[in-house]
Formats: sequence, structure tokens, C-alpha cells
Amino acid sequence: SAAEKDGYDYFMLKEIAEQPKAVADTLLGRIDPSGSLTLDELRITPADLRQIDKVVIVACGTAFHAGLIAKYAIEHWTRIPCEVELASEFRYRDPILGGRSLVIAISQSGETMDTLMALRHAREQGSKVLAICNTNGSTIPRESDAVLYTHAGPEVAVASTKAFLTQLVACYLVALYLCQVRGTKWGDEIQAVIKDLSRISDEVERVLETMEPVRALARTLAGKDTVLFLGRHVGYPVALEGALKLKELAYMHAEGFAAGELKHGPIALIEEDMPVVVVVPSPSNRSLLHDKIVSNIQEIRARGARTIVIAEEGDEAVVPYADHLIRIPVTPTLLQPVVATVPLQVFACELAAARGNEVDQPRNLAKSVTVE
Ligand code: G6P
Repeated sequence: SAAEKDGYDYFMLKEIAEQPKAVADTLLGRIDPSGSLTLDELRITPADLRQIDKVVIVACGTAFHAGLIAKYAIEHWTRIPCEVELASEFRYRDPILGGRSLVIAISQSGETMDTLMALRHAREQGSKVLAICNTNGSTIPRESDAVLYTHAGPEVAVASTKAFLTQLVACYLVALYLCQVRGTKWGDEIQAVIKDLSRISDEVERVLETMEPVRALARTLAGKDTVLFLGRHVGYPVALEGALKLKELAYMHAEGFAAGELKHGPIALIEEDMPVVVVVPSPSNRSLLHDKIVSNIQEIRARGARTIVIAEEGDEAVVPYADHLIRIPVTPTLLQPVVATVPLQVFACELAAARGNEVDQPRNLAKSVTVE
């Protein structure tokens, strides 16, 4: 009913708007004022966490994209090798696991059958399984060794939004906690990240306040057949997530690519006036990546693409090549997906509505897929 939607037209819009709170709730009580993490709720002992020599993340759909982003953070901060795999592929290829592998199963519902089967397989190999889950007492956390709950609250719309942002936050917390218990050098970078992470819900709020032009743009693109998404580093999984949202909701041909792969194929797809969304890394960090992506934007634009550029405030280098510019706040590189994903959610939601689609209940999809 309209009351349940709090005055929003769709649950999805309501859930997008709830993201600052969802993120704040997921952080609540887990970072103390001194900047150290309290995750005593994890039932894996620090001694066991010190033994870990490999992290394997398994998930499906949007949760899989959270896992792809987590890999960048886990490897960069903890220096523990990390793999991410679609749960539906994982157990069928005889993965190498053992008692020192930590398997992280990410699932909003806690009931996705592929993810459940993957975690059972991991436990049979003697690995510890940590669930990152939004649903109290659901099957995946019940069958895991430990659980870190996301506190997004109930997510009704089939396409995941606030659960995704909280999955990212939970993954960052796990990565930082691994550093803490393992005594990984707690450098200035990690200190700064913890500070920025504890403030990130305000940044999400700021992004939400600037979404009107994104909605207007989406409406003008309702007649398009194809939208491409490009990103690099953590912006690559963000591009995949932007494309997935558009498939799910707008039933459009949408694909996400790693910007570095453009020249190996995707650039052949560019046609006159084809919308291409580009997620631009921060110019302050990894400046080479930033320059490379600016060249990519120039290349696709020269071939006729209509460029929709998501870039940090103050990034002036992109301005001459952006047909449409969407600003996001300055964040540390690894946290950028938390803010960069929000415009893509709004974009897909508005495009779906403009195409007359059922936003909260897209055709052929289920909120939770409990069959293999
Ligand atoms: C379905 C939903 C997606 C979700 C995926 C994984 O496909 O439509 O939105 O990302 O399942 O669900 P889970 O509950 O395991 O996160």
C-alpha cells in the first residue's frame, strides 16, 4: 500500500532513500571512538582469524558485486589473497579450500540456494564460513560458523539497493577487523579510511540530495536500446552493478566493462548517441588510472558515444568530455563504490518507470531464488 511506501511511488525509491540510515545502522557500535573495531559478535576467534591464508567470497547477483569490490579492499589492506566467485560456479569446479581458508558468503535474504550450497561445500572441506546477511535467523547464517549482520532493514523491492550498500560496509569492516586482529600495520591510510567510513552515510545523503538531474536524464533515454557502463579498479564492479540494475528493471541491453578492456572489443559497440556511463576514479589517488579513464572517455566520445560521467567533486579534467556530469563526494578510492552506486540505482529506477515497467516486481525475477 501507499502507506507502506512512506509516500514514495515504489519500494525501491523508499529503499534508495533509506540508504544513509542503513549504512549508519550497519556501522553502529562496530567502530569505537578511538577508531578500533568491535566485532566480538563474530564467532570466529582472533586465533582462527590469524591462521587464515586465503579468503574466498561467494555470492549471487548484486551481492556478488559487493564481493568483487571487497576483494580490492581485503587484498590491499590485509595482504591476504582473496578470490570472489559466483556461488553457482563455485562447488562445481573443485575449488582448493582447507582449514585455513575463510569463506565469506554474502546474501541479503540468507536463503539463496546457490550460495547455501556453496557454503555447505566449503564447510565440508573444513573451511570456516562467515555469512554477511541482512535477514536474522535465515538459513545461510544458521549454517555458517559466524555471521555479521547488515542492518539495512527489510528490503522489499526485488532489485537490491540498500542491502548492497550495507554489504559493502560489512565487507570493509571485516577487512579492517582482519587487519586489527592480525596486527597488520595500522598505517595512516587505514586510520583515515576508518574515519571516512564512519562518516560515509552523510556522503550518501549528500548524493541523494542531487539526484534530480539524474532522473531527468534517465527519462530522456527511455527509448534507447543499449546502455554501456565502464569502470576501472573498484569502479569496474560498480559498472557491472549499474548494468545489472538496468537489465533487471528497465529490460534494456546493458553491459558493464572494465575500461581497460575497451580497446579489446567493447569499443566496437559504440554507435552514434549511444549512452555510455563512465565511473571515474578519484584524480587524487592512482592518478594514472584517472588519466587513462579520461582518455577512454575521449575515445568513446570521438566515436559518437553520449558520455554520462560520474566523477568526484573538483575533478575538472573530465568536464570537456562529459555530455552529462554526475558529481559524487570525495572519498578514499576503496570507499568510492558506496557513493558511486547511488546514481546508478536512481538512473535504473527512473528509466524503468519511464518505460512503464513494474519497478518493484520486474518480470521473471524473484527477490530470493531458493532453487539451484
Ligand atoms: C536475486 C535478487 C537479486 C539478488 C540475488 C542474490 O537474483 O533478485 O537482487 O542480488 O538474488 O540474493 P541474496 O538474497 O542472496 O543477496
